[in-house]
Amino acid sequence: MNWQATVITLFPEMFPGPLGLSLAGRALEKGLWACRTEDLRQHGLGRHRAVDDTPFGGGAGMVIRPDVVDAAFAASQAPADVPRVYLTPRGRPLTQQNVRRYAAGAGVLLLCGRFEGVDERVLQAHDVEQVSIGDYILSGGETAALVLLDACVRLLPGVMGCEESGVEESFSEGLLEYPHYTRPAEWEGRAVPEILLSGNHAAIAAWRQKQAEKITRERRPDLWSAWLARKERNMAEAVGGAAQTDHFGV
Ligand code: ADE
Repeated sequence: MNWQATVITLFPEMFPGPLGLSLAGRALEKGLWACRTEDLRQHGLGRHRAVDDTPFGGGAGMVIRPDVVDAAFAASQAPADVPRVYLTPRGRPLTQQNVRRYAAGAGVLLLCGRFEGVDERVLQAHDVEQVSIGDYILSGGETAALVLLDACVRLLPGVMGCEESGVEESFSEGLLEYPHYTRPAEWEGRAVPEILLSGNHAAIAAWRQKQAEKITRERRPDLWSAWLARKERNMAEAVGGAAQTDHFGV
């Protein structure tokens, strides 16, 4: 069975969108994954197929009704046991770790919000994970869903050639990547760092590691702290492990 993405949305025409091109598009053509949409409007109420209503407690905006979302879930034909994810700026941040978990399963069922959001009860009733792709507000969950799907699809077996697959590993290490250079060796008065032309693979690896650490420290203090903490833990474990070996060795 291929990996199945099901997207509940008011804008089904937005899918697969850009994921119909390039790497994900070729994988779609090959049948390595499939993208189904469930039109939320089809489950709206009354002559106007209303999907939303005013919030209890007052306030601005409209809230998508639980019964409408429930009907869309029921009609979606998503494989059983796939993670159900609601894209919202109120969600937990999307991480590579979660992407790996989604990609390892049978697929995902994504719910895209518009307006102020979705009634909380239907999210609880269906055990829906709430996920954000960053600390900014999009006009709807659709573009966030495309981001999540892009990140998942590139990890599916057979999608990436070995050329691209290394990128995943370098991010998994917890540092941002070192900078890249190609020909010409000098461009508009700017030279490529000398070390990269040296042919000294160990020195190049050390330079790249230093660059990755510097960039991470400067740009992402959060990742840098986590990386330092992990390194310290690993070192403590290595020392602890050695001590234990000694102990058992006595
Ligand atoms: N919908 C609107 N903004 C969003 C965000 N930052 N992440 C996920 N879904 C969203």
